[in-house]
Amino acid sequence: MSRMKNTLPLLGNLSVHEFLRDYWQKKPLLVRAALPQFNGLLTPQQTIKLACTEDVQARLVTQPQGGFALQQSPFSAKDFKGLSKLPWTVLVQGLNHHLPEATELLKKFAFIPHARLDDLMVSYAPKGGGVGPHFDSYDVFLLQGMGHRRWQISTQADHEMIEGAPLRILKNFKVEQEWILAPGDMLYLPPHCAHNGIAEDECMTYSIGFRTPAYQELAEQFLVYLQDRICVAGMYADPDLKTQQHPSEISPAMLRQVEQAIKQVRWDKEDIANFLGCYLSEPKPHIYFAAPESPQSLKKFKKTIINKGLYLDLKTQMLCHGNDIFMNGEAIPNVGDNYSLLRELADRRELSALTFSKEARFHKLPGELPEELPEELPEELSGNLIELLYQWYLDGFLNPL
Ligand code: SIN
Ligand code: CO
Repeated sequence: MSRMKNTLPLLGNLSVHEFLRDYWQKKPLLVRAALPQFNGLLTPQQTIKLACTEDVQARLVTQPQGGFALQQSPFSAKDFKGLSKLPWTVLVQGLNHHLPEATELLKKFAFIPHARLDDLMVSYAPKGGGVGPHFDSYDVFLLQGMGHRRWQISTQADHEMIEGAPLRILKNFKVEQEWILAPGDMLYLPPHCAHNGIAEDECMTYSIGFRTPAYQELAEQFLVYLQDRICVAGMYADPDLKTQQHPSEISPAMLRQVEQAIKQVRWDKEDIANFLGCYLSEPKPHIYFAAPESPQSLKKFKKTIINKGLYLDLKTQMLCHGNDIFMNGEAIPNVGDNYSLLRELADRRELSALTFSKEARFHKLPGELPEELPEELPEELSGNLIELLYQWYLDGFLNPL
């Protein structure tokens, strides 16, 4: 908790408490030298190479005749060779899924809960490049890597967009403030704050983005979640059926009966928590996990993680609540005594050997480990932590150190 009282250079020497109270979701914050030594994680060439990699989500924004054009991945090297002298920008999503250094960078923002994090995006633009004035519906920290970017912002309420444009571009952008950001500088923008970034020279910007799911999306997905879980007893019955003048009409009696039946659909806080855990830890549709090519035996795995520790795969999303763990969209309920250890793994994305050897329960495991793992994940984990971790290793969700 002491960390909460400390001021952070990353937040312009505000404490996390002050930042959350005065800026988060409220107003922009410019931080000079937020990360003084930061000069970026990738070169422009590495960024273009990543944009051309299978399974990577990337966009290429070109600026023909003062307008904007958009292309989506997949890309090949030739998409970048044929670019004219006009300004352009390439944006690569999910850098944290591909680069351990990107995941390390995101850890600096862990004062915001993992459930709110979206991903780390990087953009590269030669001089003059940008994606035009727009607003986003989520919070973002724009951290300057290589080069310089002019950021113009506006808190205007006019959100009218240019019709028919391939990107969401504000029709009437009225600049209220502007700054030129150098490597290591950072600008925090709350949702709906209009902004326009223009590369002053060869420029790379890292966007730490946070998601704010729309209630409509949450409610729709909750109904999908509920459909497999509801249990409504009984069947429609009408032993007292009355004659009706128009056989095509749905009668008030039928409506009443069905209304009563549907009112039996109930949910509680536990359902909401379970839904949220699964929904928020669900990998995006393009994400695939690679199972280890020649997996260690369970015995070897146990020895390695006890001696060295383990870490989550870069693509893994792990959340927890109550006594439940959510691993890449799947709920593992009632982990009992193992909760605090698994929460630590979710918090820090790794467990050191030391953490393990301190875990007395780890040594409570049966001396003879089963050669075969059960097909289903065990419901009661007491004493079965190792099997769970091993299963996640086989799924490609984590790795021994
Ligand atoms: C960029 O990095 O060029 C654009 C980021 C943004 O405006 O959200
Ligand atoms: Co934006």
